Amino acid sequence: MSKKHKETIQKQFTKTAEAFSTFAVRDTPEVLSEKVEFAKPQATDLALDVACGPGAFALALAPRVRLARGVDLTLEMLRRARAFQAEKQISNAAFTCGDAEQLPFPDGAFDLVSCQCSFHHMPKPQLVLREMIRVAKPEGRLLVIDPLAPESDPKYDLHNRIERLRDPSHTLSLRLTTFLRMFEQAGLEVVRQSLRRRARSFNHWMLRAGYNPGTKRYRETRKLLEDSMAGDRAGFSAQPQGDDIQIVHNEGMFLLGKKAGGRS
Ligand SMILES: C[S@@+](CC[C@H](N)C(=O)[O-])C[C@H]1O[C@@H](n2cnc3c(N)ncnc32)[C@H](O)[C@@H]1O
Repeated sequence: MSKKHKETIQKQFTKTAEAFSTFAVRDTPEVLSEKVEFAKPQATDLALDVACGPGAFALALAPRVRLARGVDLTLEMLRRARAFQAEKQISNAAFTCGDAEQLPFPDGAFDLVSCQCSFHHMPKPQLVLREMIRVAKPEGRLLVIDPLAPESDPKYDLHNRIERLRDPSHTLSLRLTTFLRMFEQAGLEVVRQSLRRRARSFNHWMLRAGYNPGTKRYRETRKLLEDSMAGDRAGFSAQPQGDDIQIVHNEGMFLLGKKAGGRS
Protein backbone atom coordinates (compact mmCIF):
# COMPACT_ATOMS: atom_id res chain seq x y z
CA MET A 1 0.00 0.00 0.00
CA SER A 2 1.42 3.42 -0.92
CA LYS A 3 2.34 5.85 1.86
CA LYS A 4 -0.20 8.28 0.40
CA HIS A 5 -3.10 5.80 0.57
CA LYS A 6 -2.09 4.82 4.11
CA GLU A 7 -2.24 8.47 5.13
CA THR A 8 -5.64 8.90 3.43
CA ILE A 9 -6.99 5.90 5.38
CA GLN A 10 -5.60 7.13 8.69
CA LYS A 11 -6.86 10.68 8.09
CA GLN A 12 -10.35 9.53 7.11
CA PHE A 13 -10.78 7.06 9.97
CA THR A 14 -9.24 9.34 12.60
CA LYS A 15 -11.68 12.06 11.55
CA THR A 16 -14.67 9.71 11.54
CA ALA A 17 -13.81 7.33 14.41
CA GLU A 18 -16.50 8.73 16.68
CA ALA A 19 -19.24 8.89 14.04
CA PHE A 20 -18.22 5.49 12.72
CA SER A 21 -18.39 3.96 16.19
CA THR A 22 -21.88 5.40 16.67
CA PHE A 23 -23.48 4.76 13.29
CA ALA A 24 -21.71 1.65 12.06
CA VAL A 25 -21.87 -1.79 13.59
CA ARG A 26 -22.71 -0.70 17.12
CA ASP A 27 -26.17 0.53 16.15
CA THR A 28 -27.16 -2.67 14.37
CA PRO A 29 -26.81 -5.46 16.96
CA GLU A 30 -29.06 -7.85 15.02
CA VAL A 31 -26.87 -7.59 11.90
CA LEU A 32 -23.77 -8.09 14.04
CA SER A 33 -25.25 -11.27 15.60
CA GLU A 34 -26.15 -12.55 12.14
CA LYS A 35 -22.53 -12.11 11.05
CA VAL A 36 -21.17 -13.83 14.16
CA GLU A 37 -23.52 -16.80 13.61
CA PHE A 38 -22.52 -16.95 9.95
CA ALA A 39 -18.85 -17.37 11.01
CA LYS A 40 -19.72 -20.50 13.06
CA PRO A 41 -17.28 -19.58 15.86
CA GLN A 42 -15.97 -22.41 18.05
CA ALA A 43 -15.11 -22.13 21.76
CA THR A 44 -11.51 -23.21 21.05
CA ASP A 45 -10.95 -20.68 18.23
CA LEU A 46 -8.17 -18.13 18.15
CA ALA A 47 -9.77 -15.42 16.02
CA LEU A 48 -8.36 -12.41 14.22
CA ASP A 49 -10.43 -9.56 12.77
CA VAL A 50 -8.44 -7.64 10.13
CA ALA A 51 -9.13 -3.89 9.76
CA CYS A 52 -11.20 -4.19 12.92
CA GLY A 53 -12.07 -0.48 13.25
CA PRO A 54 -13.75 0.25 16.61
CA GLY A 55 -13.72 -3.46 17.43
CA ALA A 56 -17.44 -4.25 17.31
CA PHE A 57 -17.05 -7.51 15.39
CA ALA A 58 -14.04 -8.79 17.39
CA LEU A 59 -15.85 -7.98 20.65
CA ALA A 60 -19.03 -9.71 19.45
CA LEU A 61 -16.95 -12.79 18.61
CA ALA A 62 -15.02 -12.78 21.91
CA PRO A 63 -17.69 -14.47 24.11
CA ARG A 64 -17.87 -17.30 21.54
CA VAL A 65 -14.13 -18.01 21.09
CA ARG A 66 -10.96 -18.53 23.13
CA LEU A 67 -9.34 -15.25 22.08
CA ALA A 68 -10.42 -12.52 19.65
CA ARG A 69 -7.75 -10.20 18.30
CA GLY A 70 -8.24 -7.14 16.13
CA VAL A 71 -5.72 -5.36 13.94
CA ASP A 72 -6.11 -1.93 12.33
CA LEU A 73 -3.99 0.81 10.80
CA THR A 74 -5.73 3.72 12.57
CA LEU A 75 -4.72 4.38 16.18
CA GLU A 76 -7.90 6.31 16.97
CA MET A 77 -9.99 3.30 15.92
CA LEU A 78 -7.89 1.06 18.19
CA ARG A 79 -8.32 3.48 21.08
CA ARG A 80 -12.09 3.23 20.65
CA ALA A 81 -11.92 -0.56 20.36
CA ARG A 82 -10.05 -0.76 23.69
CA ALA A 83 -12.51 1.63 25.34
CA PHE A 84 -15.44 -0.43 24.01
CA GLN A 85 -13.72 -3.58 25.34
CA ALA A 86 -13.36 -2.01 28.81
CA GLU A 87 -17.01 -0.89 28.71
CA LYS A 88 -18.12 -4.43 27.87
CA GLN A 89 -15.65 -5.94 30.41
CA ILE A 90 -14.32 -8.45 27.92
CA SER A 91 -11.00 -9.99 28.97
CA ASN A 92 -10.27 -12.34 26.04
CA ALA A 93 -9.72 -9.68 23.34
CA ALA A 94 -6.68 -7.66 22.28
CA PHE A 95 -6.10 -4.94 19.68
CA THR A 96 -2.90 -4.29 17.74
CA CYS A 97 -1.78 -1.68 15.22
CA GLY A 98 -0.80 -3.15 11.87
CA ASP A 99 -1.23 -3.19 8.11
CA ALA A 100 -3.52 -5.79 6.54
CA GLU A 101 -1.01 -6.20 3.72
CA GLN A 102 1.71 -7.24 6.20
CA LEU A 103 -0.03 -8.70 9.22
CA PRO A 104 2.15 -8.67 12.35
CA PHE A 105 1.43 -12.34 13.16
CA PRO A 106 3.22 -15.62 12.40
CA ASP A 107 2.06 -18.18 9.82
CA GLY A 108 -0.81 -20.46 10.82
CA ALA A 109 -1.63 -18.65 14.08
CA PHE A 110 -5.45 -18.40 13.85
CA ASP A 111 -8.49 -20.67 13.44
CA LEU A 112 -10.74 -17.89 12.15
CA VAL A 113 -9.55 -14.81 10.23
CA SER A 114 -12.18 -12.24 9.30
CA CYS A 115 -12.28 -8.96 7.45
CA GLN A 116 -15.57 -7.15 7.36
CA CYS A 117 -16.54 -4.01 5.47
CA SER A 118 -12.92 -3.17 4.71
CA PHE A 119 -11.88 -4.88 1.45
CA HIS A 120 -13.22 -1.87 -0.47
CA HIS A 121 -10.52 0.28 1.18
CA MET A 122 -7.69 -1.98 0.04
CA PRO A 123 -5.83 -1.02 -3.15
CA LYS A 124 -4.54 -4.62 -3.41
CA PRO A 125 -7.24 -6.89 -1.98
CA GLN A 126 -5.37 -9.99 -3.26
CA LEU A 127 -2.45 -9.11 -0.97
CA VAL A 128 -4.75 -8.79 2.03
CA LEU A 129 -6.40 -12.11 1.20
CA ARG A 130 -2.96 -13.73 0.86
CA GLU A 131 -1.99 -12.42 4.30
CA MET A 132 -5.25 -13.67 5.82
CA ILE A 133 -4.53 -17.10 4.34
CA ARG A 134 -0.95 -17.03 5.63
CA VAL A 135 -1.94 -16.36 9.25
CA ALA A 136 -4.79 -18.93 9.19
CA LYS A 137 -4.11 -22.53 10.24
CA PRO A 138 -4.24 -25.09 7.39
CA GLU A 139 -7.72 -26.15 8.56
CA GLY A 140 -8.66 -22.57 9.52
CA ARG A 141 -11.59 -20.57 8.12
CA LEU A 142 -11.65 -17.15 6.56
CA LEU A 143 -14.62 -14.79 6.68
CA VAL A 144 -14.92 -11.97 4.16
CA ILE A 145 -17.87 -9.58 4.32
CA ASP A 146 -18.06 -6.58 2.02
CA PRO A 147 -20.48 -4.49 -0.05
CA LEU A 148 -20.81 -5.73 -3.62
CA ALA A 149 -20.69 -3.44 -6.64
CA PRO A 150 -23.16 -3.93 -9.53
CA GLU A 151 -22.04 -6.32 -12.27
CA SER A 152 -22.92 -3.97 -15.16
CA ASP A 153 -20.03 -1.68 -16.21
CA PRO A 154 -21.89 1.69 -16.26
CA LYS A 155 -23.56 1.00 -12.88
CA TYR A 156 -20.26 -0.24 -11.44
CA ASP A 157 -18.45 2.97 -12.44
CA LEU A 158 -21.11 5.34 -11.11
CA HIS A 159 -21.58 3.28 -7.93
CA ASN A 160 -17.86 3.53 -7.11
CA ARG A 161 -17.78 7.23 -8.10
CA ILE A 162 -20.48 7.99 -5.52
CA GLU A 163 -18.67 5.89 -2.90
CA ARG A 164 -15.36 7.70 -3.56
CA LEU A 165 -16.98 11.14 -3.52
CA ARG A 166 -18.40 10.35 -0.07
CA ASP A 167 -15.14 8.85 1.23
CA PRO A 168 -11.78 9.41 -0.50
CA SER A 169 -10.33 6.36 1.29
CA HIS A 170 -12.79 4.12 -0.60
CA THR A 171 -10.75 2.30 -3.25
CA LEU A 172 -13.20 0.04 -5.05
CA SER A 173 -16.25 -2.03 -4.19
CA LEU A 174 -15.77 -5.33 -5.99
CA ARG A 175 -18.34 -7.37 -7.89
CA LEU A 176 -19.55 -10.75 -6.68
CA THR A 177 -17.89 -12.36 -9.72
CA THR A 178 -14.57 -10.65 -8.86
CA PHE A 179 -14.67 -11.90 -5.27
CA LEU A 180 -15.43 -15.46 -6.36
CA ARG A 181 -12.61 -15.40 -8.94
CA MET A 182 -10.19 -13.99 -6.37
CA PHE A 183 -11.08 -16.74 -3.85
CA GLU A 184 -10.64 -19.43 -6.51
CA GLN A 185 -7.27 -18.03 -7.61
CA ALA A 186 -6.09 -17.89 -3.99
CA GLY A 187 -6.84 -21.61 -3.51
CA LEU A 188 -9.91 -21.09 -1.33
CA GLU A 189 -13.25 -22.86 -1.40
CA VAL A 190 -16.50 -21.16 -0.48
CA VAL A 191 -17.95 -23.08 2.47
CA ARG A 192 -20.93 -20.76 2.94
CA GLN A 193 -22.16 -17.75 1.00
CA SER A 194 -24.95 -15.32 1.74
CA LEU A 195 -26.00 -12.21 -0.17
CA ARG A 196 -27.87 -9.65 1.88
CA ARG A 197 -29.60 -6.37 1.06
CA ARG A 198 -28.70 -3.82 3.74
CA ALA A 199 -31.06 -0.82 3.57
CA ARG A 200 -29.76 2.31 5.28
CA SER A 201 -30.33 6.02 5.63
CA PHE A 202 -28.28 8.17 3.25
CA ASN A 203 -28.03 10.82 6.01
CA HIS A 204 -26.54 8.36 8.51
CA TRP A 205 -24.23 6.99 5.85
CA MET A 206 -22.94 10.52 5.22
CA LEU A 207 -22.62 11.29 8.94
CA ARG A 208 -20.53 8.15 9.34
CA ALA A 209 -18.16 9.61 6.75
CA GLY A 210 -18.08 12.92 8.64
CA TYR A 211 -20.56 15.03 6.59
CA ASN A 212 -23.80 16.57 7.77
CA PRO A 213 -26.38 18.09 5.38
CA GLY A 214 -24.77 21.56 5.71
CA THR A 215 -21.52 20.46 4.05
CA LYS A 216 -20.49 20.80 0.42
CA ARG A 217 -19.48 17.13 0.25
CA TYR A 218 -22.94 16.07 1.46
CA ARG A 219 -24.63 18.19 -1.22
CA GLU A 220 -22.35 16.93 -4.00
CA THR A 221 -22.77 13.27 -3.06
CA ARG A 222 -26.53 13.65 -2.68
CA LYS A 223 -26.78 15.33 -6.10
CA LEU A 224 -24.84 12.56 -7.80
CA LEU A 225 -27.00 9.95 -6.06
CA GLU A 226 -30.26 11.78 -6.92
CA ASP A 227 -29.18 12.11 -10.56
CA SER A 228 -28.66 8.33 -10.64
CA MET A 229 -32.09 7.43 -9.24
CA ALA A 230 -34.07 7.26 -12.51
CA GLY A 231 -33.34 3.78 -13.79
CA ASP A 232 -31.21 3.02 -10.71
CA ARG A 233 -28.08 3.90 -12.69
CA ALA A 234 -25.70 3.45 -9.72
CA GLY A 235 -27.30 0.30 -8.28
CA PHE A 236 -28.16 1.82 -4.87
CA SER A 237 -31.94 1.18 -5.25
CA ALA A 238 -32.32 4.69 -3.79
CA GLN A 239 -35.81 5.78 -2.65
CA PRO A 240 -36.78 9.20 -1.22
CA GLN A 241 -37.77 9.00 2.44
CA GLY A 242 -38.92 12.39 3.75
CA ASP A 243 -35.81 14.62 3.85
CA ASP A 244 -33.65 11.54 3.65
CA ILE A 245 -33.04 8.87 0.98
CA GLN A 246 -33.05 5.14 1.65
CA ILE A 247 -30.15 3.40 -0.06
CA VAL A 248 -29.31 -0.28 -0.27
CA HIS A 249 -25.90 -1.92 -0.16
CA ASN A 250 -25.79 -5.46 -1.45
CA GLU A 251 -23.47 -7.25 0.92
CA GLY A 252 -21.63 -10.51 0.31
CA MET A 253 -20.75 -12.78 3.24
CA PHE A 254 -18.30 -15.56 2.46
CA LEU A 255 -17.01 -18.27 4.78
CA LEU A 256 -13.96 -19.82 3.15
CA GLY A 257 -11.66 -22.77 3.70
CA LYS A 258 -8.27 -23.61 2.25
CA LYS A 259 -8.57 -26.22 -0.49
CA ALA A 260 -6.67 -29.40 0.27
CA GLY A 261 -3.46 -29.16 -1.77
CA GLY A 262 -4.21 -25.46 -2.45
CA ARG A 263 -1.50 -22.86 -2.85
CA SER A 264 -1.29 -21.63 0.70
C1 LIG B 1 -15.05 0.91 7.03
S1 LIG B 1 -13.99 0.67 8.40
C2 LIG B 1 -14.53 -0.94 8.94
C3 LIG B 1 -14.13 -1.26 10.34
C4 LIG B 1 -14.66 -2.57 10.91
N1 LIG B 1 -14.24 -3.72 10.14
C5 LIG B 1 -16.16 -2.52 11.01
O1 LIG B 1 -16.84 -3.14 10.18
O2 LIG B 1 -16.65 -1.83 11.91
C6 LIG B 1 -12.47 0.34 7.62
C7 LIG B 1 -11.31 0.13 8.57
O3 LIG B 1 -10.23 -0.40 7.79
C8 LIG B 1 -9.04 0.09 8.35
N2 LIG B 1 -8.00 -0.12 7.32
C9 LIG B 1 -7.99 0.32 6.05
N3 LIG B 1 -6.90 -0.12 5.40
C10 LIG B 1 -6.21 -0.88 6.29
C11 LIG B 1 -5.00 -1.62 6.21
N4 LIG B 1 -4.28 -1.68 5.10
N5 LIG B 1 -4.60 -2.30 7.29
C12 LIG B 1 -5.32 -2.27 8.45
N6 LIG B 1 -6.46 -1.56 8.59
C13 LIG B 1 -6.90 -0.88 7.51
C14 LIG B 1 -9.36 1.54 8.66
O4 LIG B 1 -8.45 2.10 9.57
C15 LIG B 1 -10.76 1.39 9.24
O5 LIG B 1 -10.76 1.22 10.63
